[in-house]
Amino acid sequence: MKCIWFLLVVEVMSVVDSHRPLTNGGSFELALFSSKAKTQAEIVYRMCLPKVPDFVHATARPSNPSLSYKFNVTILEIMRGSFLVEIERVDQATGWDTMLITVDWSSYIGNVVVYQNLILWFPDAADRRILNAYTASQYCNDNGGQLVDIVDKAMYDVVYDYCQQTIEFGWARIWLGSSYNQTTDTVTQRNGKLGYHGDWYPGFPGRGSGNQTYTGLLLYIK
Ligand SMILES: *[C@@H]1O[C@H](CO)[C@@H](O)[C@H](O)[C@H]1NC(C)=O
Ligand SMILES: *[C@@H]1O[C@H](CO)[C@@H](O)[C@H](O)[C@H]1NC(C)=O
Ligand SMILES: *[C@@H]1O[C@H](CO)[C@@H](O)[C@H](O)[C@H]1NC(C)=O
Repeated sequence: MKCIWFLLVVEVMSVVDSHRPLTNGGSFELALFSSKAKTQAEIVYRMCLPKVPDFVHATARPSNPSLSYKFNVTILEIMRGSFLVEIERVDQATGWDTMLITVDWSSYIGNVVVYQNLILWFPDAADRRILNAYTASQYCNDNGGQLVDIVDKAMYDVVYDYCQQTIEFGWARIWLGSSYNQTTDTVTQRNGKLGYHGDWYPGFPGRGSGNQTYTGLLLYIK
């Protein structure tokens, strides 16, 4: 049987470029007051999106940075030209007087999973191409994100399940951000901390000079 190997990249979005077709982002300022700790607001994209996004992430802050109000934002409904949020004041459980609030948002088309404070997202799960670890990392950066690092078993399961559900069929090799050091037998994340060192494919991690020091996920989806 002939096997074809594809490489895909798992991307963790951190910064969002505003002119990508599949992800967009922006800021929207509104004057808002609330007699209670929670209120609803409509946030307008003010740009033309190719379709209704599948996922929107948003945060809210006082436009005046010297104000110490803190808000949590919950997305209630995603629409074509805007999205509806619930803004909750969390520094104290009260309302607030009229204030300029800036909502920073990013939108995604495609299957997104949120794990803790990370957004897991493939730029395009149907776009399979053969990339080495370096070009995969560049591809992520060009799309405003990073290769994902797996911290522990719980995160491994989330990332693996996400990849398995998002990629429709076939073999996939997915680069992760971490590297493997054969001498010390350690997995190191991009931030320098130790990463998850388990669930290896039989025979891996590779030992001996010339073996790759990058880590990846290998999937076979039926
Ligand atoms: C606000 O969001 C943070 C981070 O997601 C969470 O830990 C916290 O419990 C939330 N606060 C409230 C009052 O919902
Ligand atoms: C692996 O770790 C050893 C010992 O700390 C270090 O000398 C070596 O440079 C590391 N190799 C890589 C590829 O980082
Ligand atoms: C990589 O590691 C494997 C398994 O330990 C070993 O058989 C192989 O010779 C190594 N490859 C190179 C190029 O050193």
